[in-house]
Amino acid sequence: MDVYGLLGNPVEHSLSPPMHEAAYEALDYDARYVTFETDPDAVDAALDGAKALGIEGLNVTIPFKETIAERVACDETARRVGAVNTIDFGGDDVTGHNTDVEGVRRALAHHDVALDGATAILVGAGGAGRAVAFALADAGAAVHVANRTTEKAVSLAQDLPAASAHDLDEVPALLSEADLLANATSVGMESDDIPVPASALHEDLAVFDAVYTPLDTRLLSAAEAVGAQTIDGAWMLLYQGVAALELWTDRDPPVADMNRALRAELA
Ligand code: ATR
Repeated sequence: MDVYGLLGNPVEHSLSPPMHEAAYEALDYDARYVTFETDPDAVDAALDGAKALGIEGLNVTIPFKETIAERVACDETARRVGAVNTIDFGGDDVTGHNTDVEGVRRALAHHDVALDGATAILVGAGGAGRAVAFALADAGAAVHVANRTTEKAVSLAQDLPAASAHDLDEVPALLSEADLLANATSVGMESDDIPVPASALHEDLAVFDAVYTPLDTRLLSAAEAVGAQTIDGAWMLLYQGVAALELWTDRDPPVADMNRALRAELA
């Protein structure tokens, strides 16, 4: 039996176990996906232990994504983002990847959102914001990053090929000319708050919200109300998992089964 898992703290509410185990079942693959709540002081021991025990792969979540990036051989994307969400123990080296970036790319591609030449407004410049920003910029969008703490937007914009940094209060004006709005702040998580004024939304926008608890955030409801296209946060979650499964195995991920399991868990 192959073993995969999630390294983080906390991990108890993770949706990755049901999503990945639905994939193993659909593939008739003898594997398990386990959560490992790890003490921050024990990250090195956890990595060595996972390798020694023959664990095939680990996802990484808060607060270890940046720490792990300093400890494994990062691929190009993980190195640029400065964060690892997927570790592969299968090769000679322990390698680090960032499938959050690929998750955003595929979530938007799934919804036929054109990014090449598009104007994208990203609110949020934390961990999720960095992954969203690289996905948008690498797909050819001009990215305007706005964040409550403007210095973090400035720093992120400097790491991107074509980007500018803004205060949150500039967002309504920026949105009038934009094709895409992506929310990567935690605003709307377990609350009815909205990260940008609803009055700034319009029907020519595609609106992606990285928040998935709840799935129907106030931002997405407001976007839907003006006729904008909406993409909820479960799509990013789904496709980062799909991309991780592709890295770990040579199997074809059963995307529909994984999506069903994820949405059942979120419902
Ligand atoms: P994650 O890994 O989920 O991105 P994070 O790195 O803590 O989490 O980032 C949270 C993001 O939400 C940040 O962009 C944060 O803004 P700051 O950088 O100014 O902290 C943003 N955020 C959180 N609460 C917010 C609020 N009430 N209004 C606006 N932005 C908020």
